[in-house]
Amino acid sequence: SQMTQDELKALVGQAALAYVVPGEIVGVGTGSTVNKFIDALAALKDHIPGAVSSSEASTARLQALGIPVFEANTVGELAVYIDGADEIDPAGHMVKGGGAALTREKIVAAQSRRFVCIADESKVVRTLGAFPLPVEVIPMAAARIARQFAALGGDARVRLKDGVPLVTDNGQHILDVTGLQISDPLAFESQVNQWPGVVTVGVFAHQKADVCLLGTPGGVKTLTF
Ligand code: A5P
Repeated sequence: SQMTQDELKALVGQAALAYVVPGEIVGVGTGSTVNKFIDALAALKDHIPGAVSSSEASTARLQALGIPVFEANTVGELAVYIDGADEIDPAGHMVKGGGAALTREKIVAAQSRRFVCIADESKVVRTLGAFPLPVEVIPMAAARIARQFAALGGDARVRLKDGVPLVTDNGQHILDVTGLQISDPLAFESQVNQWPGVVTVGVFAHQKADVCLLGTPGGVKTLTF
């Protein structure tokens, strides 16, 4: 029988437990796939000190399961960071931020030696850019940054929630940019990072995945980059 997308997410969430290092704090991402990982992680909670979390939502879910959550500033480098993606290319570059948590996700990823991406097959692309690119911005810079994307052929819209701009965990706004073909993710990330008012661009090339656990109907496929 055909596995649902939800079952594929549960499969990779469970498979990611093999990458959790006993005795070490684990970095935890955000999203529906990571939620499956967090649920599975409860079984290992006596073997790890706890987690560093990338969002208020993941923190709440971890704590509800009795998994301690540490502030990033109070711990050193993490062995592993586990997170989903909106798109992943053949080199392990990703687009992230569909859940609006991209800034803290990039911070915890940067603090971790290894990035393990968990995703279902639908996230794999040849070239990044079909999924609207999330960019967290300082609100007063949003219109100017939108014009900078327009000059690259992109169409940037402020993400709304209940008819008003969505406010991130960091008190900022999100632009979603369509119409981009990100053929050089490293250069693109560096370029957009230079624009005043950009907090975080949702291209994860400098913080790319080292491993991707891909949920397929035939089981978990492990890609290494
Ligand atoms: C959260 O901000 C995102 O980066 C998520 O990692 C991404 O949206 C994947 O989420 P799902 O696992 O829900 O598809």
